[in-house]
Amino acid sequence: MSKRRSNVLSFSAMVLALFSLLLLGAFTSTTLAAGIGKDGTIAAKRGKATTLDELIAMYDSSSCFECHQDIHEEWSQSVHARSVYGTGRTAATFRTAFTNGFMNWAYSGVEKPEDVEVEHLMGCAKCHLPQLADATDDVAKELVATIFDWMDAYQNDDMATFEKHQETLLDLNINCLVCHNRMAITHKWTDGYPQDGVVYGKNAGEHYDPNFPIVRQGPNMEASILCGQCHGLGPNLELDNPTQCATGYGSYLFSYITNGGDKTCQECHMLESGLGHNIQSYRSEVMAEKAIDWHVTARPMVWRDGRNVRPKVMVDVAMTNKAGHGIPDG
Ligand code: HEC
Ligand code: HEC
Ligand code: HEC
Ligand code: HEC
Ligand code: HEC
Repeated sequence: MSKRRSNVLSFSAMVLALFSLLLLGAFTSTTLAAGIGKDGTIAAKRGKATTLDELIAMYDSSSCFECHQDIHEEWSQSVHARSVYGTGRTAATFRTAFTNGFMNWAYSGVEKPEDVEVEHLMGCAKCHLPQLADATDDVAKELVATIFDWMDAYQNDDMATFEKHQETLLDLNINCLVCHNRMAITHKWTDGYPQDGVVYGKNAGEHYDPNFPIVRQGPNMEASILCGQCHGLGPNLELDNPTQCATGYGSYLFSYITNGGDKTCQECHMLESGLGHNIQSYRSEVMAEKAIDWHVTARPMVWRDGRNVRPKVMVDVAMTNKAGHGIPDG
């Protein structure tokens, strides 16, 4: 608990510090990435979702759930399955970022919630909901309104409205199609854009889903960079107003790998842990146990101080971080 708290405190401190940075830089638009058509097929560079429901439908992974039940069960226990809602705190922090951030800043162009555009939200959605880049500015406004209405409903004890919005927020997540299509190709000029009707996996071949009849080899499915796309290098300097949240991928590259570490995120988090798609951190006992090596030796002794004999203990504690990055992150 106390560890969690310090994590959140340091996180808020960083967000505040970095939010106050105003750097002028080119906004890298992600609008060229894949979108999924209303008919359930993925279309690189096809149209945009105009409502939250359309965005949810674009990345509807319910067909995957039918055939990959075990994986679905694992995934639904992971925080990727609620990457906007989180434990409630993530969505609430979005609101704080919004009211204490954009609405307060002289040059953001946002004075009231209706002024918000996708670009404003990408400072968080870049990693928490990357598919927001496949939606129009109306969807950004609807998302902000939903978070505000959800919190107001809670305060007014209006549970029906609260639960309705909670359900929408929970449907906005990092699901099968986000990893196995949208984020599956990192170098799009080299390897191409994610395609219609294709899921990207470790092997290539036919696939039984009529909407996704092809499996192609995802160039990074077993590589850390797949995860690194959302797990942060440090400040997101490509944004007009940089944010910082997760920095785990930076720590992995600059500390773990440079010190001779040779495991991938997938090896530790999915394979050796036995957790598969239930990708976890300290909330899982398996991961918590792997985190730190403790060596404690204690030697009882007696200290003579003139005529006084005092019993003492000499304790040596050695703690080694065995995770592939600094902990806690954020
Ligand atoms: C009609 C059943 C069916 C549906 C629907 C389905 N799959 Fe599959 N999928 C399979 C089978 C069978 C395999 C091969 C065995 C395996 O690896 O589990 C497979 C394999 C895969 C693989 C592994 C490819 C590899 O070898 O690396 C991925 C990734 C995958 N599916 C993702 C998805 C996603 C994402 C969806 C939803 C868009 C989906 N599947 C929907 C049946 C289905
Ligand atoms: C670079 C990708 C990235 C960006 C940008 C980002 N986040 Fe995060 N965020 C993460 C990841 C990954 C985690 C998981 C924990 C960790 O490694 O810190 C996380 C964790 C969190 C948590 C803690 C959740 C919990 O309950 O433990 C909150 C709250 C949060 N983010 C809110 C935000 C907000 C608000 C913004 C925008 C100001 C934002 N994040 C921007 C990737 C990001
Ligand atoms: C956070 C990203 C992420 C999400 C979300 C995700 N996957 Fe995967 N999936 C992976 C990675 C990475 C691998 C390869 C792991 C490895 O190295 O073996 C994988 C492997 C697979 C495989 C190959 C067989 C296996 O068990 O390794 C199937 C099938 C699959 N995923 C289906 C799904 C389905 C269905 C969903 C949604 C319920 C889903 N995945 C959600 C990242 C993801
Ligand atoms: C599309 C972006 C994205 C991708 C790809 C992604 N993650 Fe995440 N991941 C997140 C976000 C955002 C969170 C935090 C959600 C929250 O707490 O609100 C998270 C949470 C986690 C957590 C749990 C942290 C906690 O506080 O308990 C772990 C562990 C994790 N991710 C590992 C991985 C691994 C391993 C991969 C690659 C196989 C991966 N992620 C791929 C965005 C992503
Ligand atoms: C050598 C094994 C190992 C590797 C490699 C590794 N991790 Fe971890 N990771 C762990 C362990 C163990 C924990 C649990 C720490 C704890 O209990 O506090 C953890 C915790 C995390 C957390 C939660 C951080 C927090 O705030 O507590 C995230 C997010 C995460 N890992 C993501 C990743 C990503 C993304 C990669 C690849 C870039 C990766 N990990 C590589 C072992 C590893």
